[in-house]
Amino acid sequence: MRCPIEFVSMGILTDKTVVVGVSGSIAAYKGAELVRLLVTSGAKVRVMMTRSAMEFITPLTLQTLSGEPVATEIFSLTQESEIGHIRLADGADAIVIAPATADVIAKAATGIADDLLTTVLLAARCPLAIAPAMNVHMYEHPTVTENLGKLRTRGVTVIEPDAGALACGYEGKGRLTDPAIIVEELARILSKPDLAGERILITAGPTQEPIDPVRFVSNRSTGKMGFAIARAAWRRGAGVRLIAGPSAQPTPHGVERVDTVNAAEMLSTVSRNFPWCSALIMAAAVADFRPKNPAAQKLKKNPRGMTLELAAIPDELPRFASRKGNRILIGFAAETEDLEVNAIDKLRRKRLDLIVGNDVSRSDAGFAVDTNIVTIIGMDGGKETTPKLTKDEVGDVILDRLLAIRSAKQRPTPLRATR
Ligand code: CTP
Repeated sequence: MRCPIEFVSMGILTDKTVVVGVSGSIAAYKGAELVRLLVTSGAKVRVMMTRSAMEFITPLTLQTLSGEPVATEIFSLTQESEIGHIRLADGADAIVIAPATADVIAKAATGIADDLLTTVLLAARCPLAIAPAMNVHMYEHPTVTENLGKLRTRGVTVIEPDAGALACGYEGKGRLTDPAIIVEELARILSKPDLAGERILITAGPTQEPIDPVRFVSNRSTGKMGFAIARAAWRRGAGVRLIAGPSAQPTPHGVERVDTVNAAEMLSTVSRNFPWCSALIMAAAVADFRPKNPAAQKLKKNPRGMTLELAAIPDELPRFASRKGNRILIGFAAETEDLEVNAIDKLRRKRLDLIVGNDVSRSDAGFAVDTNIVTIIGMDGGKETTPKLTKDEVGDVILDRLLAIRSAKQRPTPLRATR
């Protein structure tokens, strides 16, 4: 499943200037959505358009959405002094061409600079991403393949088009990818890849324990925190597998997601994937009890009520700890009272490297909200309580701690002085 178009992490491009180049494809209208999402993600957005792009969408639309003048002409006296090609190139932290036509791709690959957009590409020193959009036969043409290959070799990120029904009536690969994915790719390009080499296994969401085929026992977790950690870890260069309980959250771009329903299924999926990972982050609210004898058929109404017998679900974390090797283990403690005392107890009992405690009784933290306030306690005794942050920001704080644990683990043991 891809990120739906409306989803983009708030603030992931704060303080970044992104220059968006729009070229002449019918997908130019999606350039408007891209600009809007980039602004939502905190970026300052400058737009440049080719002449043919203006046949599909007006500069006024993109100027209104970006809040900045749109550059279209290289030989315009006013534009050149206000938003000239060198200024655009020098001011950009990243450039993205979306949609990129076969023509613009060919010019970028061969260094032709015959209009404002292609001249900026030659003048720029910042990272470049290209999101192609064209007819499937054009996209599969050996010239386009060769040109994209050349650009990749030079370090350009090519954001592959999607397959599906094309505006020209054909079916196949060539649709500009979802603008939300382009934003995520830009955030990754502009992030420090400090988690490169880590393979992070993350659990998220609630579990559902069946009472009968239509009813279950569950909890209020939505998966927002675990999904936010997965997004942040991918942006920072990690390989990410996300084991999700039933959750409506969209699958983060670049992340492998496995859906599970009950605790037994979730924990056995974690166990199977454990040998793959270098770090396990258990953000899921795994059930502690399950109905002892789930009914095979829907239970009928009973005016006298009913008693539900619950069986305990064994905690798997200590077992993962016993085979952890060099892996880093991070757990969560969802509490409504005595947060710190309970979190420290779980940290020790579950033999974790780090525990993230959160007070789930607050309205601005814990389950189902976009913000969180957490107390992070390490095995080394270090303790930190965050202010109220977005869950994406909390994800980054947790990953910073993971990185610190990793460098401490890898620090060579000092040699004993010998006589
Ligand atoms: N956890 C687990 N297996 C379970 C239950 C919990 O691996 N059967 C993990 C959770 O994913 C979390 C941590 O253990 O990382 C703590 O979960 P939490 O529900 O806060 O604590 P419990 O150990 O279940 O204790 P209690 O419910 O009594 O607070």
